[in-house]
Amino acid sequence: MLTLTHIARFLHDLAFTTWIGSMIFMMLVLTPAVGGKGIPPQFLRLMGIERFKSWAWASIIILTVTGIYRLYGRFYQFDLFLMSRYGQLMTLKLVLFIIMVLLTAIVSLMYAKRIPMEAPQKPGEQPTARFSQMQKRFISFSAINLALGVAILFIMSILR
Ligand code: HEM
Repeated sequence: MLTLTHIARFLHDLAFTTWIGSMIFMMLVLTPAVGGKGIPPQFLRLMGIERFKSWAWASIIILTVTGIYRLYGRFYQFDLFLMSRYGQLMTLKLVLFIIMVLLTAIVSLMYAKRIPMEAPQKPGEQPTARFSQMQKRFISFSAINLALGVAILFIMSILR
């Protein structure tokens, strides 16, 4: 029988696959493709930094709701929870998750709109120094976020 637990597990898996998967695509495919080549902003918009932002936030909300649901009842005694290996790894995962959310907030607020706006207007046009610096920071934040996401996946595979 289909239970709420099955649905929560499915949505949790779907959300982290969407978020981490799109980060992998962005870092391995999109970023090398656009890196400093004077791609017009319309194209950058089409390639989806802003759209990615919406999916990232939707995933964060789903992960938080389904994660809390799955965690519910596991830490009725917080000190015992923290003493167990499960509790320690889960706490580490949550700390990494919070850092990821903060980095996502920085990227969403500071770069998602400005990068397409300040990108070179015509193909072949040289990017400004300001744009290149912004792009470098954006790539660094995204790389750190991806590394944290992969670390969480590793933690989850050794949790049990
Ligand atoms: C980047 C964010 C996250 C990633 C990549 C992630 C990944 C995973 C993975 C791979 C699993 C194991 C597969 C599964 O059983 O579904 C899992 C399970 C779980 N996650 Fe997450 N998760 C994230 C965020 C969260 C958050 C925010 C919470 C809690 C608020 C949470 C709580 C849980 C719980 C309780 C389980 C079940 C563990 C068990 O089997 O006992 N997760 N997560």
